[in-house]
Amino acid sequence: MPPNMIILAIETSCDDTCVAIVEAKKNKSGQVNFRALSNIISSQVKLHAKYGGVYPALAKREHQKNLPLIFKKAVKEAKKNIDLISVTAGPGLEPCLWTGINFATDLAEKLKKPIVTTNHIEAHILVNFLDQNQNLKNKSQIFPAICLVVSGGHTQLILMKGIGKYRILGETRDDAAGECFDKTARILGLGYPGGPIMSKLADKQAGSRSSSSGKLIIKLPRPMISQKNYDFSFSGLKTAVLYDFKSRADKTRKSKEYIQKMALEIQQAIIDVLVNKTLKAVRDYGARSIILGGGVTANKELRKQLQQSLDRKKMKISLIAPEQALCTDNALMTALAGFFRYLKRGKWKNIRANANLRIDEKL
Ligand code: KG4
Ligand code: ZN
Repeated sequence: MPPNMIILAIETSCDDTCVAIVEAKKNKSGQVNFRALSNIISSQVKLHAKYGGVYPALAKREHQKNLPLIFKKAVKEAKKNIDLISVTAGPGLEPCLWTGINFATDLAEKLKKPIVTTNHIEAHILVNFLDQNQNLKNKSQIFPAICLVVSGGHTQLILMKGIGKYRILGETRDDAAGECFDKTARILGLGYPGGPIMSKLADKQAGSRSSSSGKLIIKLPRPMISQKNYDFSFSGLKTAVLYDFKSRADKTRKSKEYIQKMALEIQQAIIDVLVNKTLKAVRDYGARSIILGGGVTANKELRKQLQQSLDRKKMKISLIAPEQALCTDNALMTALAGFFRYLKRGKWKNIRANANLRIDEKL
């Protein structure tokens, strides 16, 4: 690698149009420091809120409209010449991925610069390798790590033996945890995305004096929690919420008590399963750390309960999580993933979108 490298990254796998420009700089001891020169996220949340989920054709149109605008803004902010272009190839929504890829390849041709493609799930993990000073963290204490990646499209437990060395241990067989938050929020008539709204309501309920008082008792299942594997299933949880909702009188369904108690129970059911399976994987594989990534890991209660469980079981495992703003989609993580891929394999030839790209698959 040259002593200084400016990476432009583009991420359009779902409903956020993201562009980042990152400087990777080798210091005197050979360590690489990263500095974000620009990190822009143009969210489409308001647009998709009407549908209670992401509408791919609409998302693609918005990416096409927003990408040139935020690219211009990012270049203006960074004021540096670009050396490498990094773009998300998958997994994600195919029409959205292609928008980013087409833009990135056109740009690479125009600027005559190399281009690399990245895996979105790997990017969610690698964003953790920036510490607060944006230096690469000390890797010797980390591996083997168990990565819990939980987003709107994915719920996976991954064994990570080093950067670029991954094995998927388990994943959801149906809905992802974030999808479960989003779909149950829709049943309850809350907004989109469901996760942050549900989390706020759950906090209110947990903090209220009447958290366990009142006649209303809601008990939801913890799907697959006792099974001896690392897989998940959240669609049964969603159905259980729907049945409970339908069984209640209209007045109850609309009551603050019902909505808040339901939010708390949905969040707790999801946390119980995620914590249980993650700790099982940590024990089985003698992991040194847990690495979190993806929108759902912004959930404060999930982080808190994961740490509490480790403490209770006297497991001396470091819990590594991105700052909250970097849990959800951003292109800073795409820049990092692109940098490591570039070091490993140089520039790419076959640039194409792969909606179902897996982290253990060659790009
Ligand atoms: O990683 P992400 O930004 O996009 C995908 O790659 O899918 O994750 C989005 C998901 C949504 O389902 C959203 O409801 C969930 O992350 N989410 C949360 C929280 N913030 C975002 N879920 C629970 N608690 C949160 N605080
Ligand atoms: Zn994501």
